[in-house]
Amino acid sequence: MPVSALIGCQWGDEGKGKIVDILSARVGLVARYQGGANAGHTVVIGEETYILHLLPVGILRPGVTCVLGNGMVIDLDSLEEELEAIHSCRIDTAGRLFISPRAHLVLSYHKAVEKQRELSASKPIGTTLRGIGPAYETKAARIGLRVGDLYRPQDLMARVESLHDWAATTGAPRDELASPRGLAASLAPHAEKLRPFVRDVRITVQEALSHGSELLLEGAQGTLLDLDHGTYPFVTSSSTSVGGTVSGLAIPPTSVTRAIGVTKAYTTRVGEGPFPTQFDEAFAEPFRTRAAEFGATTGRPRRCGWLDGVLLRYAAEVNGLTALVVTKLDVLDGMETLKIATSYASASGDSIDPNEVDVLAELDQCRPVYEELPGWTEPTTGATRVEDLPANARAYLKRVSEIAGVPIAMVSTGHRRDQIVVVNDELLPARAAVR
Ligand code: IMP
Repeated sequence: MPVSALIGCQWGDEGKGKIVDILSARVGLVARYQGGANAGHTVVIGEETYILHLLPVGILRPGVTCVLGNGMVIDLDSLEEELEAIHSCRIDTAGRLFISPRAHLVLSYHKAVEKQRELSASKPIGTTLRGIGPAYETKAARIGLRVGDLYRPQDLMARVESLHDWAATTGAPRDELASPRGLAASLAPHAEKLRPFVRDVRITVQEALSHGSELLLEGAQGTLLDLDHGTYPFVTSSSTSVGGTVSGLAIPPTSVTRAIGVTKAYTTRVGEGPFPTQFDEAFAEPFRTRAAEFGATTGRPRRCGWLDGVLLRYAAEVNGLTALVVTKLDVLDGMETLKIATSYASASGDSIDPNEVDVLAELDQCRPVYEELPGWTEPTTGATRVEDLPANARAYLKRVSEIAGVPIAMVSTGHRRDQIVVVNDELLPARAAVR
């Protein structure tokens, strides 16, 4: 009953959606364990493009059980919109989608607080404005509203009132806040629609484990956005790395046997915060357009740069990665020379030892030291076999794997489901479970 966690190694947007989609053909259950509608997982199947924010990508595979874990924060409007879109594509969710009653709700109060904060901050975080940080904040303050509270009307009103007061005293303009009575009333139709899906997901997970199912835990965002292990304060407010699976889903840590890291062949970042290998804008602009690097949730242009091997190795260590998936290799086609940062130096040129200096906290002081590799001219788009990749592309991947200290399991060569090279099948969930 192996469990695979699929984790972003960078600042999110690594292309995890497509990889979860491919791997969900091999598993019985896919679960989200953190984050909320700040995520945007894009999956292209045939002529259809699906962008999922809250539902696990496994929902696109009939017969796969899907779980929204207790570690998530759920925006009910967003969830219902997604469910409607999925149902309109004739994808059935009955009996195979389960939502933890312990997951917290994101209310309009959370979004109002976040908007006010981002607008008035001298150093904004550049959040997705989906109310994520404030929702985790009220969770930690023990005043949050949980999915299960929707079915306890005797407590609901008092909880909504205290969230209203919190929002008003936290700086949200009072005239933008819905009245507690109005907000509580607006929750009732949601509660009815969601009732069939709400279940203690600990039981769902335990059942899957005891039936010998393969499980896939779908990370959102990436390790460098982790509240503890990321580039704080320019992070999201959840545990995006492998540790989050245990608390966000009530999964026994010993059952997680595979940690599959997903990295782009280069780096991107949205929002504010340090990014040592970032391209200058003249180089970035055509690259971004070619690579279609615009946010799936907010449409924001992503900052682009070379692969940062120092941070990749860090992500490999934090997550105990057992396999690596490299995405968007095809974007590098036709580039004469490629660079990978293998160490950092200070502005004065002194080398920085990541074991001596907390580089995550001082990333804005770190200058990348690059290793250069030759590029390739042949297209890799759509390649499906290692031997179809140009020699220089294979050499690049080999170097990425060496720097990360992790073997490569798959390489993605385009946005479609079938544009994938399986390098080492044994590092992935067992094929025996293919449905
Ligand atoms: P929040 O998660 O909306 O609070 O945003 C905090 C930081 O995480 C911002 O820099 C966002 O741009 C970033 N972020 C949140 N979700 C994602 C994602 O799914 N992909 C990439 N960046 C994200």
